[in-house]
Amino acid sequence: MTLTSLPGPSRDEVQAHRGASAIAPENTIAAFRAAAEAGAKWVELDVAFSADNRLIVIHDDSVDRTSSGKGSLGALTQSEIGALDGGAWFDPRFAGERIPTLAETIAALGEFGLSANVEIKQHAHHKSLDQLVRAVQADISKRSADTRIMISSFDAQCLKAMHQLEPDLEMAMLWVQAPEDWEQQLAAIPATTIHMHYKAVSIGLLEHVRERGIKVRVWTCNDPMQLVSFWHAGLTGVITDDPAVFLG
Ligand code: G3P
Ligand code: MG
Repeated sequence: MTLTSLPGPSRDEVQAHRGASAIAPENTIAAFRAAAEAGAKWVELDVAFSADNRLIVIHDDSVDRTSSGKGSLGALTQSEIGALDGGAWFDPRFAGERIPTLAETIAALGEFGLSANVEIKQHAHHKSLDQLVRAVQADISKRSADTRIMISSFDAQCLKAMHQLEPDLEMAMLWVQAPEDWEQQLAAIPATTIHMHYKAVSIGLLEHVRERGIKVRVWTCNDPMQLVSFWHAGLTGVITDDPAVFLG
């Protein structure tokens, strides 16, 4: 059997994790451009507040791992974060790449024809959930007509608050593995989608979830062979560092 004859996700169900983070520095405009060049239609990205409550696209609660600088997001302003090199740590070819704001990223997605799964991170330095979700709403409201947005979070309160503001957006609850009472928890958010670790998914869970009209995407899988048995059971999509391997 060839790779192209194996079951797999549709193009619209391959989300590039932090952009195409296998080939470009995660959560940068370069990584989002690389995702589009690989043929992806969707990217996943992480957002959090800087010290001056500007939304930054970054995974960790500090800049240490993914930039030339040091310090926690709660101690650095957006202009301090924006002045750092966010690319050279990954490869010298990306020197000069910046850690973008969500607003800059939303504008770039429009240029690249991309849609986004905006993962809202809740960090200890965040003071107001209301301020956080309102800031996300303000930035995503400036998206281009072709950019679709969905929201995900490990924090159920974030999803609830975001749903109050944007009831039409798809909301995905992030769990490493679905809890026993996943159905009640989802109904309370309310969310229509589970995003879970690919090693925790099972055919039994997918069949159960599908009967209830709930979608499941898995993260972070970079090997299509790992998911072959799940597509027929109702797996909806994949979040991957390397979209090219799923897009063929
Ligand atoms: O959205 C899936 C995945 O991004 C969740 O984990 O830690 O990579 O943000 P993390
Ligand atoms: Mg994420």
